[in-house]
Amino acid sequence: MIYLSRPCIDYREIRSVVRVLKSGWLSGGEKVKEFENKFAEFIGVKYAISLNSCASALQLAIQAQKLKGEIILPSFTFVASANAVINAGCTPRFADIEYGSCNIDPQKIEALINKKTVAIMPVHYAGQSCDMARILAIARKYGLSVIEDSAESLGARFKNKKTGSFGTGCFSFFSTKNITCGEGGMVTTNSRYVWNKVLAYSSHGVERRSSSKRNPNWLREAKYPGYNYRMANILAAIAVTQLAKIEVMNNQRRELARYLSENLKECGELRLPFEEARCYHVYQMYTIKLKPGYGPKRDLFVDYLRKKGIEASVHFYPPLHKQKLYRGYLYPRDCLPITEEVSSNIVTLPLYPKILKRDLNYIIAKIKEALTRNRG
Ligand SMILES: Cc1ncc(COP(=O)(O)O)c(C=O)c1O
Repeated sequence: MIYLSRPCIDYREIRSVVRVLKSGWLSGGEKVKEFENKFAEFIGVKYAISLNSCASALQLAIQAQKLKGEIILPSFTFVASANAVINAGCTPRFADIEYGSCNIDPQKIEALINKKTVAIMPVHYAGQSCDMARILAIARKYGLSVIEDSAESLGARFKNKKTGSFGTGCFSFFSTKNITCGEGGMVTTNSRYVWNKVLAYSSHGVERRSSSKRNPNWLREAKYPGYNYRMANILAAIAVTQLAKIEVMNNQRRELARYLSENLKECGELRLPFEEARCYHVYQMYTIKLKPGYGPKRDLFVDYLRKKGIEASVHFYPPLHKQKLYRGYLYPRDCLPITEEVSSNIVTLPLYPKILKRDLNYIIAKIKEALTRNRG
């Protein structure tokens, strides 16, 4: 089977974990601090708080800012984006996307803003940044917060600035992401206030302070009914080693994506992913679209590849506004035609830094075969 994704783990991660095991500091510790410092520096922000997932990061990014009201996000995303909004006590409002990038359409955002709107949550889909210039301009105009769901975009840039540095950034280290430690997340921010609040919420609601005579470090007074969303030292040891390889791994992803595109470009039934002007794409996923009208056969296409030993998949179907759990959040006049078109025609192909050229050639051949069969 050619897997959809495989983590890029070598002796360096193994050595790093063994050291932590021998140190005895398995929960919070030096590796957590090192990871947070290096991550903040990589993204270009003042603070980074490591957590157990991106879902927790999104929820705390909202809670830390005491937001209450509607948050505008795409319906074409993973369920975690909307769940975080709801779990933080806010209401999701779904905006349509652009066909080419599959990212939230800034024009559609503005049309949804009303008195209840408190924030915009752009989701940088599959490794490419949303149009942050237009999104920030809208946020400024209406006084809204920006929470970036950067789960799929570690290292991606818009106008040379990394995703996660425009608003409050939220990252995932799940095993299919650009770096992984199994499960993990991060909040990035330039705000000391947000940093302090996310830290406290993630650690039972107890604020971390430096110890003094009046405040010895054994004081554990909760300020909020917080959670335990912390990252363990043992996972940070893996993550910090992965972070040291991010540029190499992202370059490999870009190179392999270029190879796929070069070899699939003559297939008229396909719409291939591409790098938008002003963006640096990091291809957390390589997703193709079957051209409009090809729709009913998408599932057959995925099944065919799977039968041939290729773990093709779909990200994302059904779109959130079509799921029972979220349908009620749709206003009667809201409609999302591009989201519906894209979600019924999109296919994710295997792509990860160490995938073999031989496997890519096999995938290319089987895609062409599937298209020919469908034509007939
Ligand atoms: C866009 C998006 N948001 C949020 C998440 C949730 O990340 P995690 O599994 O780390 O909570 C994912 C992960 O799959 C994602 O793709």
